[in-house]
Amino acid sequence: MKISISYETFSETSLLNVIDRALVEKAILASNNAYARYSKFHVGAAVLLENGDIILGNNQENIAYPSGLCAERTALFYAGANYPILKITSLAVYGSGDLLEGRGPVTPCGACRQVMAESIQRQNIGFELLLAGADGSVVKFKNALDLLPLPFGI
Ligand code: THU
Repeated sequence: MKISISYETFSETSLLNVIDRALVEKAILASNNAYARYSKFHVGAAVLLENGDIILGNNQENIAYPSGLCAERTALFYAGANYPILKITSLAVYGSGDLLEGRGPVTPCGACRQVMAESIQRQNIGFELLLAGADGSVVKFKNALDLLPLPFGI
C-alpha cells in the first residue's frame, strides 16, 4: 500500500484561473477581519458553494487560547449551519504573519483537515483546496481530502 499526494504550485496568484484567483482574493480580504490578538497570524478562508455563493471566515482567537477557532473551520461551520444542502466546490485559505517566518502558503492544521474530510464525506464529492501565502504563492489540491489520508472515522 502506498499513499501519494499530487498538487500544483503557482508562484503568483495571477497564474491561477479566474475563479480560483477570485476566491484567493476573497480569502485575503477575509484575513483582514481576523481576530488574531494573540498569535498576530491573520488567516482568511473563502468557501465557494455550488450556487456561486462565497462564505468567508477568519481565525477568531480568545484569551483562553483553545477557545479560538481557525479560519477554515469558521467558514466551513458557517456553510454547514446556513447552507447545509449546498455542496462546497472550493476552499481558499490565506495566512500572513511572522509565525511561518515567510515560509509560503499556510497549511491547515490537523483539526481543520479532519473537518474538511467530514465535509467531503457529507457531500459525497471532494472539493478543491487553494493555499495562499503572503509571498504571493499558491498551492492547489484537486481534493482537500488528499491532505488527510486515513482520517479518523471516515
Ligand atoms: N490558524 C488558522 O486559522 N488556520 C490555519 O490553517 C492555521 C492556523 C490560526 C489559528 C490561530 O488563531 C493562529 O492561526 C495561529 O496558529
